[in-house]
Amino acid sequence: MKDILTELEDRRNDARLGGGQKRIDAQHGRGKLTARERIELLLDEGSFEEFDMFVSHRCTDFGMEKQKTAGDGVVTGWGTINGRMVYVFSQDFTVFGGSLSETHAQKICKIMDMAIQNGAPVIGINDSGGARIQEGVASLAGYAEVFQRNIMASGVVPQISVIMGPCAGGAVYSPAMTDFIFMVKDTSYMFVTGPDVVKTVTNEVVTAEELGGASTHTKKSSVADGAFENDVEAMAEVRRLVDFLPLNNREKPPVRPFFDSPERIETSLDTLIPDNPNTPYDMKELITKVADEGDFYEIQEDYAKNIITGFIRLEGQTVGVVANQPMVLAGCLDIDSSRKAARFVRFCDCFEIPILTLVDVPGFLPGTSQEYGGVIKHGAKLLFAYGEATVPKVTVITRKAYGGAYDVMASKHLRGDFNYAWPTAEIAVMGAKGATEIIHRADLGDAEKIAQHTQDYEDRFANPFVAAERGFIDEVIMPQSTRRRVSRAFASLRNKKLKNPWKKHDNIPL
Ligand code: HXC
Repeated sequence: MKDILTELEDRRNDARLGGGQKRIDAQHGRGKLTARERIELLLDEGSFEEFDMFVSHRCTDFGMEKQKTAGDGVVTGWGTINGRMVYVFSQDFTVFGGSLSETHAQKICKIMDMAIQNGAPVIGINDSGGARIQEGVASLAGYAEVFQRNIMASGVVPQISVIMGPCAGGAVYSPAMTDFIFMVKDTSYMFVTGPDVVKTVTNEVVTAEELGGASTHTKKSSVADGAFENDVEAMAEVRRLVDFLPLNNREKPPVRPFFDSPERIETSLDTLIPDNPNTPYDMKELITKVADEGDFYEIQEDYAKNIITGFIRLEGQTVGVVANQPMVLAGCLDIDSSRKAARFVRFCDCFEIPILTLVDVPGFLPGTSQEYGGVIKHGAKLLFAYGEATVPKVTVITRKAYGGAYDVMASKHLRGDFNYAWPTAEIAVMGAKGATEIIHRADLGDAEKIAQHTQDYEDRFANPFVAAERGFIDEVIMPQSTRRRVSRAFASLRNKKLKNPWKKHDNIPL
């Protein structure tokens, strides 16, 4: 008996060493942690339960039968984050460069199936040279099995990908179908074809970092939702995100204890809006002043900064925030911001997370690049996402809400539950100057007349009361009481029930 126990311990120790101490040292030398060290940081201490520690590959080509490592390059299992269950897989770069074999894929699929069945998020830590070259098509089949599960899990359990090394070729498509992708600066990259192929085909010379590093994907492509300084920070931030999310689509998001009165008055908000309607202000100030303890988890912070997306809590409950940012492009909607916000709204709606929308939008950004790029279709994504969402929706218009963008930003007409406006709100088809130039074209040569017409238009429309008279705005509220009003609104909506007509699925303008 004792021998068997010892053997188990020996086998475990062997498996824990992965590709061996030399390769572990090399991993550390690159500033990266090992697959197991990452899991240790991600999960509550001592909570990790491993599956398939002794699984090894079945390949016999290229002398592979002599090169077997217990676990086959991926550590899988489940554990808890602040006491709540998650499934995790973590690719081990020290074993065949973390490459994906048939059995490696089967291990990932096993925990994904369990996650869907048992209703807990999947967190995938990617650090892999891609398909296990020695296995050929068996490896490709393994990827496709994972892809299919990503699709089935979408909208059922949250899926989070953390890219902590290479992620190239078709391998990128598994993270791409998950809800959030995070990267680590300088040590991770993602691309469909690497710098060498790019050079051969297009003659462009580009480094891996330029082509697919964290900066590229958080600022240019929007493939990634956030970038972190190192592995330790990445794991800590994923823990923080998971705390905001429900475990699955049948559960509500967690309710955390809170130490911030929902009655809190913020008098400074009464002067947030500058006197000059063209002067910007920082919408993040409003978000953090409304949030419990000022805690805001921003998603896609570095991309399409003219719209802000992320999570806060109100009375301990998770709320998704979408807010125009007047500091960038005057808060206009455009292709990138519409796509960014639409995806966020849909995530919230999948997982029953109520949505707070803060509006200061002068309209859609004009220009040929926008029209040629399909702003019509991309803008429609956000419109569609808001309109189909059945979660509680509370909207506050702080200043401009012009034209189609007024309709899009969770207006009453898209089934907004509470639509508030600050007294500084201007809800109109367009700004006074533009409107005057169209309505009073005949007077364009007469500056005095135009000034008078503009003033008349402003007096009539640059306020929230015309919309409030029609019931499009439920109430004009004092800026200082925004946290209280919004918290009470969401509290009143906790039992909201709204269903869309039955359909197989909708046909959002992709
Ligand atoms: C098998 C692999 C491997 C792979 C790396 N290794 N990638 N083994 N299959 N795909 C092994 C190496 O042989 C080496 O073994 C160890 O992992 C570490 O690799 P190094 O090259 O020494 O590391 P590094 O210099 O950091 O380079 C990392 C790398 C490079 C950039 C990922 O290894 C690389 O280019 N690998 C090949 C990538 C690739 O072409 N993959 C297939 C893509 S196609 P030893 O024993 O020396 O430690 C694809 C299709 C998916 O993925 C399709 C899905 C639909």
